[in-house]
Order: sequence, then C-alpha cells, then structure tokens
Amino acid sequence: MDIVLQTRKLTKTYKRKRIVSEVDMTVRKGEVYGFLGQNGAGKTTTLRMIMGLVQPTSGEVELFGRNVRQGRHNLHGRIGSIVEVPGFYLHLTAEQNLEIHRRLMGVQDPDTIRKHLKLVGLQDAADKKVKTFSLGMKQRLGIARALLHYPELLILDEPTNGLDPLSMKETREMILNLCRQRELTVLISSHILSEIQQLATRIGIIHQGVLLEQIDYRDLLKKNRSYIHIQVDNDTKAAMLLEQKLGVTDYTVWEKNALRLYERLDDAATINEMLVTNGIKVHDISVAGQSLEDYFVRLTGDRHDD
Ligand SMILES: Nc1ncnc2c1ncn2[C@@H]1O[C@H](COP(=O)(O)OP(=O)(O)O)[C@@H](O)[C@H]1O
Ligand SMILES: [Mg+2]
Repeated sequence: MDIVLQTRKLTKTYKRKRIVSEVDMTVRKGEVYGFLGQNGAGKTTTLRMIMGLVQPTSGEVELFGRNVRQGRHNLHGRIGSIVEVPGFYLHLTAEQNLEIHRRLMGVQDPDTIRKHLKLVGLQDAADKKVKTFSLGMKQRLGIARALLHYPELLILDEPTNGLDPLSMKETREMILNLCRQRELTVLISSHILSEIQQLATRIGIIHQGVLLEQIDYRDLLKKNRSYIHIQVDNDTKAAMLLEQKLGVTDYTVWEKNALRLYERLDDAATINEMLVTNGIKVHDISVAGQSLEDYFVRLTGDRHDD
C-alpha cells in the first residue's frame, strides 16, 4: 500500500522540554488516520511540523514518498488542511473567501466554489459575511477551503473542537461522506475517543509527546473485544475440541495453554462441560474484556497527570 505520510523520529523541543518525541507516524493512502491524544499531548505541534509551519528540532517528514528537506514546492497543492481555527477575512463573504483561495491555488473552474459550498452545506450562506458565521459554519467553510483544490491528503486538527453535539455529528458525517466520494487520505486529530472511533480506519495514540500505539481500528476492536478466557492443560487438544464439538472458529491461542474465545460468550458453562468431558483439565474459565475507553485510560495512565 502506498504511504502518503511518514515521519521518522520527529521531535520538537521547546525550552529543553520535549513536546513531541521521536514520533514515527505512518499514514497510508486512502485511510482515515485518527490521531488521538489528550489536550497538550503534542498533536497540534506534530501536525504543524508535518505542514511545515513549525521547524522540527530533529527527525524527518516524508510526504508522498519525498523528504520535505528537499523542498516543499509542489506539495501544498496536494495537501489541504485546517490546523487550529481556520482564519478568514471576516468582512468578506464565504464565496469571496473561497475565491481568494481558488486563485491562490490556481484552480481553474470558478464553479468549484459553488460545488464546495454545497458539499459542506453552505450553499445558502455563500453571500453572507463570514463575521456573521457560527463556529460550526466557519469549520465547514474551512473544510470547503481545504478541499477546494482537490488535495490528496486532508489534515484536520480537532475539526469538531468547540462545536455543539449536533454540529459535531454533522461535521463527522460530512467528513465520512467526503472520504467516500473522493480518493482522499485523511489525518484527523482529536482528544475525544468517541469522535475518532466513528471516523478512523486507523488510530495513532499520542501521550506526552510519544506515539504509544498505531493500530488498525479493526485490530483495536479485536484486541478489546470481550472474550472467554480458558486456562487448560493442553491448548492444542482444547482448540481441536472447540472447533469439532462446538464449531468455534473465532478464537486465539493467547499464550501457552490459554485460549480466548470471541464467540459464545454466554456459553461458558457448556464449553467447560464439553472440555472436561473430553478429558481436558480446565483450570480457569471466565468472561473478560474491556471497553475501548478502559483501554485508553490504561494505555495513557492517569488522566490527570499533566
Ligand atoms: N510555541 C510553544 N512554546 C512552548 N511550548 C509550546 C509551544 N507550542 C506548544 N507548546 C506546548 O507543547 C505541548 C503540546 O501542545 P500541543 O501540540 O498544542 O498539544 P495538543 O494539540 O495535543 O493539545 C503543550 O504543553 C503546549 O503548552
Ligand atoms: Mg491541539
């Protein structure tokens, strides 16, 4: 799979304090990469380094397979972004703001503006001055602007921050729709797990400047699913019996003589009985698992430690 963005040991130090520490981030083509971390974790700083708005202390950024040290020309057209609150000319209308960007980016078709206003649901606000816009409308306009030149990579820094729940939901749905409609790779940050979880195909978790984990959302769910944990004296035989006698297919041998079953969670008693009847010693059988929320709390330690 093509790699759109790769950072290598990307690091930023302010006043001898490491804000971002040796981050190796990989964003693959077509994925929605959710960049998750608490406030102050280093998300914005990382994204700003990727965008070239902040100079890294050390480390590398590769975009579309090219190290940005060799120059960023030709790159800005391939990326669209909102990093922090999008800035607009407040006394100009939505359309006029987009028009400036269209010319700046050399987009030929003037109709692109109307198309993009429609895309973000602002078709009726085209002639309104941006100073009359709500925060939600500004975010939408920001997304329209970020997409106007048909970038391949869209970088959004907490796009739903400060929005009310309804606007949050609308923004989220809009982003999902966009991804379906266009061949777009999205890097989106948030400090809210539930936000990211509804969007992302892959998740990177940053904590105190360190990228703790980078995982496909599906694998994350798998890892965090509820399961029946079974401790036996012979995992091979137990696995065979589970398959043959009960038709169990969704399980793993977690470690030696410990199996995890992700199905038949209500059937622990039956499973126990079947194994025992067939000569397996069952030392332990219990239903376990954790919510994603628990998982992140554990991964990032005490939530009040910074
Ligand atoms: N220009 C700067 N000078 C000093 N410290 C900074 C600067 N920018 C960010 N920081 C600090 O870096 C840490 C991470 O900030 P930031 O990248 O904005 O985190 P996030 O976006 O995850 O909330 C914070 O503690 C913040 O105070
Ligand atoms: Mg931030």
